[in-house]
Amino acid sequence: MANVTVIGAQWGDEGKGKVVDWLASRADLVVRFQGGHNAGHTLVVGNQTYKLSLLPSGLVRGKMGIIGNGVVVDPEALLAEIARVRAQGLTVTPETLRLAENATLILPLHAAIDRARETARGEKKIGTTGRGIGPAYEDKVARRAIRVCDLAEPETLSDKLDELLLHHNTLLAGLGAPTFDKQVLLDQLLAWAPEILPYAEPVWERLDEARRAGKRILFEGAQAVMLDVDHGTYPYVTSSNTVAATAAAGSGFAPSALGFVLGIAKAYCTRVGSGPFPSELHDETGRLLGERGREFGTVTGRPRRCGWFDAALVRQAIKVGGIQGIVMTKIDVLDGLKELRICTGYTINGAHYSYLPAAMRAQAAAQPVWETLPGWSGTTKGARSTAELPADAVKYIRRIEELIEAPIILLTTGPERDDTIMMRDPFEG
Ligand code: IMP
Repeated sequence: MANVTVIGAQWGDEGKGKVVDWLASRADLVVRFQGGHNAGHTLVVGNQTYKLSLLPSGLVRGKMGIIGNGVVVDPEALLAEIARVRAQGLTVTPETLRLAENATLILPLHAAIDRARETARGEKKIGTTGRGIGPAYEDKVARRAIRVCDLAEPETLSDKLDELLLHHNTLLAGLGAPTFDKQVLLDQLLAWAPEILPYAEPVWERLDEARRAGKRILFEGAQAVMLDVDHGTYPYVTSSNTVAATAAAGSGFAPSALGFVLGIAKAYCTRVGSGPFPSELHDETGRLLGERGREFGTVTGRPRRCGWFDAALVRQAIKVGGIQGIVMTKIDVLDGLKELRICTGYTINGAHYSYLPAAMRAQAAAQPVWETLPGWSGTTKGARSTAELPADAVKYIRRIEELIEAPIILLTTGPERDDTIMMRDPFEG
């Protein structure tokens, strides 16, 4: 099978960027299909560090990047990111980047509403990235969103702005936040139009042609299954579906041709923002994991909450996400720990659960059921074959494979691109 779909199997920040970069070198096209510039992928190539939010990671490898219709696109953020990576020497032109003409736009008012609502929630805030992702998706399903193709039709923009502002200015005023002026927004959109439209096209057609020509397509997910708007820890989630099936709907592509579905999971667990996290550590070990793993958000710089590997959660993500194999990242962060714990299920109000149930209070009450394993004294850092790994590290990996009921097919052992052990080639299916 030619194609591969990559999604996060925890709460995001699993190191998808590095894995996508590694796989992109063997792909012809790389496609983003959901989320927006709330995502943050850090790629280290030689002496350059690229921080991508909206651009498909394959661009760094000179591969064609496609932004699908399922992505919410902030034109200002997109143009700024293009300018930034160009300054680092990357070529980004309409020949290398294509944008779905039917993708939804994020406007400045979406970020304003996102932030005003978070402030109004106080203690109950979701901890969003404040970039307008949720409000933009809301407009999409409410059928009032401005889309990329509308930039070519000033009258459509004007009509849609009337409807948008009627809704949003009422809301902003109610939240005590400044309102937006139609003419200012219209001028802004018309100024972006000539810069954005050269990238726009029906990407579904290009993808269909690529599929027929037997090209290798890599679908690059953002966020992760536990942040999925249906399957995640709702309401502490993002506003899109992050499961593999979204790659088809979010780009206009045949679900039967999505190829091998690869899930990315850290050897431990992190999350940013609010919401349940049963295996979270509030002690010295948690602090150590954060420090060693350099666990700070790429987008917001917030410190990430850290905890032990939650096998019950990843098993659930594998099942609902359609994951066929796992890439385990950052195992080297566990080097030297005396013992390791794995969460294998939960106790909730006296009952045992092998999965995290959907109800909010049940999720908040979930207590982990632990299994303890010995740590290892050697190092996994930079290992490039299973034979180079300490025996107890291999035991840890094998035990996780049993618990999550899926194979670990790649292991990353350090920040360098080649610090990777391939146990099976995902492009081979
Ligand atoms: P939003 O996507 O900005 O609405 O944020 C909703 C939730 O998803 C918050 O908890 C964010 O911290 C989280 N989130 C969004 N994008 C990412 C990501 O790329 N990595 C990790 N968490 C994310």
